[in-house]
Amino acid sequence: MKTKHDHRTAWLKTGISRCMAPPGQTKQPYRLVLLGAPGVGKGTQAALFCEEFGACHLSTGDVFRAAGSLPEEERGPALNRALEYMRRGELVPDEIVLEVVSEQADCLRCPGGFLLDGFPRTIAQAKALDELLEQEHLSLTSVADYELSREKIIARLAGRRICPNCKATYHVTNHPPRVEGVCDNCGAKLQQREDDKPEAVRVRLQAYEKKTRPLIEYYKKRGLLIPINADGTPEQVYQRTIAALRQIQSCRAGDGVGRL
Ligand code: AP5
Repeated sequence: MKTKHDHRTAWLKTGISRCMAPPGQTKQPYRLVLLGAPGVGKGTQAALFCEEFGACHLSTGDVFRAAGSLPEEERGPALNRALEYMRRGELVPDEIVLEVVSEQADCLRCPGGFLLDGFPRTIAQAKALDELLEQEHLSLTSVADYELSREKIIARLAGRRICPNCKATYHVTNHPPRVEGVCDNCGAKLQQREDDKPEAVRVRLQAYEKKTRPLIEYYKKRGLLIPINADGTPEQVYQRTIAALRQIQSCRAGDGVGRL
């Protein structure tokens, strides 16, 4: 989703692209991982957070979708393979994901901080992220884990519509556009994501349970996990996230341990 702080050129374009207008240096930038099942609302929360704090929204799904809009010959074999996995709802193999993320690792040093959305998704990816952060002498602020019932997740995915042009996200009932099927921002015709069709959703939820849910324990053991109830309106969930981050901030300050 695009926001007024959409400086993501370096992240979305593979190669050596640079952001035209990177965010300014923030005194204590947030460096967060957003965890949670597909459709729980991570992208929606990232957009609200970036709007307020200027952190960069680093979504691996968005990188693959951006590659998908390039002509096939410009993508390279690894990205073409990634798109095949994605269409079926399966996780893209770790080696491809890690190649893409390592290529864009400069974004971890974004002066406004970052929100990693959809990465890491496996224990191997989490360990690779630890290494990348260590190399950059950076650490995560927290890991926000969004939880919602399967029934509500499926309803969010089934009703999601996206703008292929400006990437805005809508929902047919929860967040409809002013004119049905048309983007409020740019007037483009809205689409359903290919992997939001029922068969792919089933595969994505299975992949989440098997490969991604173990990350909850991984980050809990490191004292980084903040569980967040993802039920309610996007604004309510956002306020819950901010309150939880502030609470951790004050606990850490009280302990004299770390800071946000
Ligand atoms: P990715 O793009 O990361 O998708 P995802 O994790 O499946 O998450 P979604 O984008 O579907 O959902 P979201 O949680 O962001 O929800 P949203 O805010 O849009 O990955 C896609 C694919 O790429 C993967 O399946 C895989 O193939 C591949 N991939 C990517 N990264 C990978 C990695 N690291 N390793 C391996 N493979 C990788 O909200 C959903 C809907 O709900 C919207 O319509 C929204 O309007 C609505 N909504 C949001 N919040 C609320 C609310 N509070 N109340 C009511 N409605 C709401």
